[in-house]
Amino acid sequence: MKSQDDFLQHIHFDGVDIAEFTDYYKSNESMLEELLSQYGAIKFHGVQIDTPSHFQTVVNSISKEFLRYVDGNSPRTKVVNNVYTSTEYASSQKITMHNELSYSNSWPNKLIFCCLVPPSIDGETLLVDGRKIVKEMNPDIVDEIDNKGVTYIRNLHGGMGMGPSWQDTFETQDKGELEAHCERLGIDFEWRENNYVRLVHKRKGIIRHRQTQEKVWFNQIDQFHPLHLGKQVYEGLKRMYRNPYNFPMFVEFGDGSQISEAMIEEILATIDSITIAPTWNKNEILIVDNELACHGRNSYEGDRRILVSMTN
Ligand SMILES: [Fe+2]
Repeated sequence: MKSQDDFLQHIHFDGVDIAEFTDYYKSNESMLEELLSQYGAIKFHGVQIDTPSHFQTVVNSISKEFLRYVDGNSPRTKVVNNVYTSTEYASSQKITMHNELSYSNSWPNKLIFCCLVPPSIDGETLLVDGRKIVKEMNPDIVDEIDNKGVTYIRNLHGGMGMGPSWQDTFETQDKGELEAHCERLGIDFEWRENNYVRLVHKRKGIIRHRQTQEKVWFNQIDQFHPLHLGKQVYEGLKRMYRNPYNFPMFVEFGDGSQISEAMIEEILATIDSITIAPTWNKNEILIVDNELACHGRNSYEGDRRILVSMTN
């Protein structure tokens, strides 16, 4: 992981409160939007944010179109309306790079993060430029993903099992509501024994940016393939489930052919070599263009409270 910032822009304030910040944002909105689609991410330093409701005030005033995290694959908690904890995965676990909800047919254009409690060691929100991934990746891999697309497979339990339940994922207890969500989101679903549901999404893996039309990496292949958890865990899962279609999450090409383990390893290594890890400090807000930038999370020690909101 490189530590230098090559597409993350920084804007420093000398301790503005949230009203001053939102005034600044609204008066400079078109310049900031342009900066974001040119570079990919902007970090604002020196904005006094102490509580989730401060953050809610900021995101409500700079954006009106929010996305609920329905159908999300990361454990997180809604803190206040439109504001979630960034993730509740174990602190010892690094979260691989991904575009938020790229396995869905509807994704947020922007992610807004803020830092209430910085981790004492590591815990950065990792970032990588999706245009740079396309340039640096083995062109055969890019072409194969571009041509075939990607199929994401998830097996969600009904309350007991590995990973998140379907009730938490879809913020409902009602199977009919889940089915309606799946139809709206273009997901094939199949109820299975023990109240499990299998979800299958066929998506593109490379897209053109909505404004600039640049070719960007836009998928969660490495996150959906259990090899990213390490060889030992992957071997354990293979022994436990036998059939990879029963893994909590799995991924293959859109034509049903398998993505080889060697390819997953190459994808992970290439993305890792160009990932940046900007340190979190208190009073920072980070805005990420979700189509231009993949994000992840480094493992960490100590408390960490990063909030996120997803908007268009
Ligand atoms: Fe994420």
